[in-house]
Amino acid sequence: MARKVQHALLTKAKNNKNDEFYTQLSDIESELQYYKSHFKDKVVFCNCDDPRISNFFNYFVSNFKELGLKKLITACYREQVRDLFNTEEYENGIFFEHTGSEGEKNKPSSTDIVYFKGDGDFRSAESIELLKQSDIVVTNPPFSLFREHVAQIVKYDKKFLVIGNINAITYKEIFKLIKENKAWLGINLGRGISGFIVPEHYELYGTEARIDSLGNRIISPNNCLWLTNLDTFKRHEDIALTKIYFRNEIEYLKYDNYDGINVNKTQDIPLDYKGFMGVPITFLHKFNPDQFEIIKFRKGDDEKDLSVNGKCPYFRILIKNKRIQTESQIHT
Ligand SMILES: C[S@@+](CC[C@H](N)C(=O)[O-])C[C@H]1O[C@@H](n2cnc3c(N)ncnc32)[C@H](O)[C@@H]1O
Repeated sequence: MARKVQHALLTKAKNNKNDEFYTQLSDIESELQYYKSHFKDKVVFCNCDDPRISNFFNYFVSNFKELGLKKLITACYREQVRDLFNTEEYENGIFFEHTGSEGEKNKPSSTDIVYFKGDGDFRSAESIELLKQSDIVVTNPPFSLFREHVAQIVKYDKKFLVIGNINAITYKEIFKLIKENKAWLGINLGRGISGFIVPEHYELYGTEARIDSLGNRIISPNNCLWLTNLDTFKRHEDIALTKIYFRNEIEYLKYDNYDGINVNKTQDIPLDYKGFMGVPITFLHKFNPDQFEIIKFRKGDDEKDLSVNGKCPYFRILIKNKRIQTESQIHT
């Protein structure tokens, strides 16, 4: 192989490394248990999943009746140049439709599989056609295309439950959805997602890597979340607030470039402060839109990062408490 091509493939393989993290059934089960009521009579689309290996496919086939699903469509992408060991070009993507009818197999055989004309990219016209027929997209999309993946679902006005990196919250497009209550965090996050199956050739590193009893290579990045627009009990639970601002003003410094106070931990949000407060992004995991309003992300009035006495705390989200009702509770 020419040196230049080899270099390009190596770079591509490196960039795509995190795209080849396969989700474990146990992590899918532990999140999906909270959404069962949303699936009745719905068409689910797993648009970044090979039905022959995907645990999303396994989950929905196994729970098809219990969830009352109408149909499951599972579609998978074939990269035109997959990796260093497989340089086959122009492979097609595939998809498989499961309707739960009598005698249907739980594993697609080669004759059940339908070939796309193209590569099965979730952005391709063929895949979008399947998206249009669907109600809910559930998958772990390639990390490098997360924004585009979510944007497309929103564009077609579909429901979704997808895995992404925690940093996704800080993407402008994703934060906007969260601020506008068009998306929110799911139940499990960080260490609550136990790890991903990685390909054979993936180098295991560090203490958070292991081989499970089935011989799968698992790594636990502990930096992932579920993002969804399916309602959950969690976003209707108030954060229990115990701290008081009145007479403890010294603990809550004001921003240099915004009329608000800095709060370093979600549990330290004072229950009596009616103005703007900057909280860490982890707040979003506990966010109840009936209790708080999200105002803005990260920037002060001067559009520079929020700062306190010249120092910038790590990304802050500006929020406001909606529940302060009586004058006696308000001391600002
Ligand atoms: C993070 S992995 C997760 C795989 C599977 N969804 C799961 O959770 O086990 C992302 C998958 O998306 C596939 N993929 C990469 N680019 C894609 C694209 N443009 N369209 C559809 N799938 C893509 C990758 O090949 C990979 O299998």
